[in-house]
Amino acid sequence: MDDQFTFAEAAAKFILARTPLRPRIGLVLGSGLGGFADSLTDAVRIPYSEIPALSRSTAIGHAGQMVIGKSSAVPVAVMQGRLHLYEGYSAQQITFPMRVFGRMGIRSVILTNAAGGFNLNYQQGALVLIRDHINLQGANPLIGANDDRFGLRFPDMTHTYAKDYRQAAQQEGRQLGMTLHEGVYAALPGPSYETPAEINYLRVIGADLVGMSTVLEAIAARHTEIKVLAISCVTNMAAGILDQPLSHQEVMETGERVKASFEALLHAILPRIASDKEIV
Ligand code: HPA
Repeated sequence: MDDQFTFAEAAAKFILARTPLRPRIGLVLGSGLGGFADSLTDAVRIPYSEIPALSRSTAIGHAGQMVIGKSSAVPVAVMQGRLHLYEGYSAQQITFPMRVFGRMGIRSVILTNAAGGFNLNYQQGALVLIRDHINLQGANPLIGANDDRFGLRFPDMTHTYAKDYRQAAQQEGRQLGMTLHEGVYAALPGPSYETPAEINYLRVIGADLVGMSTVLEAIAARHTEIKVLAISCVTNMAAGILDQPLSHQEVMETGERVKASFEALLHAILPRIASDKEIV
């Protein structure tokens, strides 16, 4: 039996055998935001390539590692490095870690990413809670036969990004003296950045920021009834907003600049999510 469910269960078993911790919360760290994983205590680090079912089913090689550790008292499982469509992975491969999370008993995820902002209320370095998304990636991880052990054939997407988690994040952000925006994230496949005309189009259809990740993971998470909080770091203003070209270097530099406040926010939110009655 080499279906996704069986692989996910094998990977979950392998990971949990390496740590006494039993996380209920998973995180995915986006470009330039990986530092959070280094701040955990009692951490066990497992390269994806060592997790047999993970590397067999996705061939993800050197993409990163899973870190299981504690943020204060809260055990978490962290994907330090994610997969993207533009690397040539399928939607199923990209979302396989959500399946593994589910089989590990994880009931909530925090998805983070770097994004280009075109809502003019945002500035470079702003943190934005994703309120909703527009999937323009031309892909969906649920295409193909549905495995009822994961979830429904036609999952509801009305409440993809949990409102109570966004409210908790807003409260913790205020405590830390940070302004958190909320916005609609448009996902494109990349890897080329958008043209100014494409950014104009995204604005017209109701988006506030754009990136190349997160939505497929959110779909797979919701399919398996994992609650989702997603946070974007506006690493750059999107194409055509400022009269300057975009670069990956700028994305990484902004990630580095907001690192401390971003990590403080995550540490503050985690106990709030850990006390969510729906997940314990
Ligand atoms: N566009 C798409 N993806 C991104 C951007 C952007 O401007 N910045 C960071 N990720």
